[in-house]
Amino acid sequence: MTQLHAIEKAYQRIIDKQEMVQSDPYRLHFHIMPPVGLLNDPNGFVFYQGKYHIFYQWNPFATTHGQKYWGHRISSDLVHWEEAPIALAPDEWFDKDGCYSGSAIVHDEKLYIFYTGNVKDKEGNRESYQCLAVSDDGLHFDKKGPVIEVPKGYTAHFRDPKVFFKDDKWLMVIGAQNLQEQGEVVLYSSSDLENWFYRGPLTGSHRNKLGEFGYMWECPDLFHLENKDILIVSPQGLEAKGYKFNNIYQSGYFTGQVDYENPSYQHGSFEELDRGFDFYAPQTTMDETGRRLLFAWMGNAEIGETQQPTAKYGWIHALTLPRTLKWKEGKLLQMPVKELELLRKNQVAYDNITIMNQQKQLNGVAGNVFELQITVTDWNAEIFSLTVGESTLCFDKTSSTFSVERKCFNKQGTESRHCRLDKLENIQLFKDTSSLEVFINNGEEVFTSRIFDDINEQAVSFQANGQVTFDVQKWDLKKIFN
Ligand code: FRU
Repeated sequence: MTQLHAIEKAYQRIIDKQEMVQSDPYRLHFHIMPPVGLLNDPNGFVFYQGKYHIFYQWNPFATTHGQKYWGHRISSDLVHWEEAPIALAPDEWFDKDGCYSGSAIVHDEKLYIFYTGNVKDKEGNRESYQCLAVSDDGLHFDKKGPVIEVPKGYTAHFRDPKVFFKDDKWLMVIGAQNLQEQGEVVLYSSSDLENWFYRGPLTGSHRNKLGEFGYMWECPDLFHLENKDILIVSPQGLEAKGYKFNNIYQSGYFTGQVDYENPSYQHGSFEELDRGFDFYAPQTTMDETGRRLLFAWMGNAEIGETQQPTAKYGWIHALTLPRTLKWKEGKLLQMPVKELELLRKNQVAYDNITIMNQQKQLNGVAGNVFELQITVTDWNAEIFSLTVGESTLCFDKTSSTFSVERKCFNKQGTESRHCRLDKLENIQLFKDTSSLEVFINNGEEVFTSRIFDDINEQAVSFQANGQVTFDVQKWDLKKIFN
C-alpha cells in the first residue's frame, strides 16, 4: 500500500462515518478527539514557526487498537485547533503494523519527527524500529526510515522515542523492556539526528533502589525544570497499593539529577501525575515563552474501553486539556493553560456562600459543559462534597482524603479514585459533555476521567458535614469542535 493509498483510505473512512460520529451526543466540545476510530497517545507535541502542533496515535478503521496513523492538529492558542493533513500512515516495511508513538523537534527550520515503526510477522512476532520523518512546512512529512534498531539486551518492546537538545548534542530517551522482562528507560545521543549512539539505561525496574517496578516502561519524557531533571514515564505492571496505582497502567514522574556523560539518574520515588481514571502516556514540550506544557491521552487501556458508549458511534477517546507544569515545594503542579479562559462565556459568581450540615444548589450553577471554580474561605467541617452530573467529588478532612466517584461504564454501580489531601483550598474543574478534569489546590492534585452521565443540564449541588464558606465562579464554555 502506498502512503497516498493508506492516507486516502483513512480520509474515505472519515467521510463514510462522519454522520454517525457527529450524531453522538457525547462528542466533546473542547477536547481533541479522533474524527473517527480510536485515538490514544499524544505525539510530537512541539512549538514550530509560531504554532503549537499536536499529533496523536490514531486507528481510523476501528474503535480498538491496531495499525496506528499519526493524526495532526495545529493551533496558535492551545484552544482553537485546526485539522492538519494526516502526518504518517503505516505503509512501509519498517512501520507496516503501526506508526507508534514518538516526538518532534525543530532543527534548521524543519520539523523532525521520531516515531516507532511497529512490525509483526505472520506468527505475531514483533520488531521495532525508531524511525525519522522530516518536514519543511510542518504539514507534509518525508519518511527517512529507521535510525535505530533494538540493541542487544532488549526485547522488541522498545519504543516511543523522545528527542531533546542538551549541551551541543541531541539526546533521545526510549521506553524499553530488557531481556529479564523489566521496564527501563534508555538513552541515545547524536550530533546530526541521523546517527544515534546507544549510551545505556538511565533507570528502570530493579534499578536505583526501585525494586520490582513493571515489565515495560512506555512513553518516557525527560526535561529540566527549575534545576531538576524530571522523567515522566508510563510503567506497565505495577501492583495497586492502597490509593496508588489503581488503573491498569500508570503515568507518573521521578525527580533528580541525570549524569549525561556517564549515563545514570539519581532520583526519588515515582509520583503519579493524575489520580483519575483516564490519563495515560503524557508528553510535554516547551513553548517560546519557556512554559513546560503537557498533553495526555484521556483514556487508558482498560478492558472497559470497549464499553464506552461512544464506540457504537464509531469513535473512542480524546486528549486531555493542555496543562502547564510548575515545580513548587517538592512537587510538580499541573494547571490548565491560561488560554483556556478564551472558552469562557456567561459568568455566574457568588461570594461567601456558607453551608452548614446541608445540601445547597445555586441559581445558574448548572449545565452540561462548564468550568467551575470554588475557593474555600472558611472551614469548620469534616466533609465537603459536590455533585457534578452523576459524579461526586468529596474532601474528607477526618481521613485527609479527596475522592472522585463516577458511574461505571457498564452502568452497574459506581467506582472511585482517591488521593491523600490535608487541606482543601480550591477546586477548578472542567466539565465537557463526557469528561471531567478536576484541579485541586492550584494543581497539587488532578483527577481526569471520562464520564457518561445524563446529557441534559444538571445543577451542581454542594454538601457539608459541618460548616464551610466558599466563593463560586462558573462559566459556560464555547464549543470548539464540531
Ligand atoms: C502507549 C502505547 C505506546 C505505543 C502506542 C501504540 O499507549 O502502547 O507505547 O507506542 O501506545 O499506539
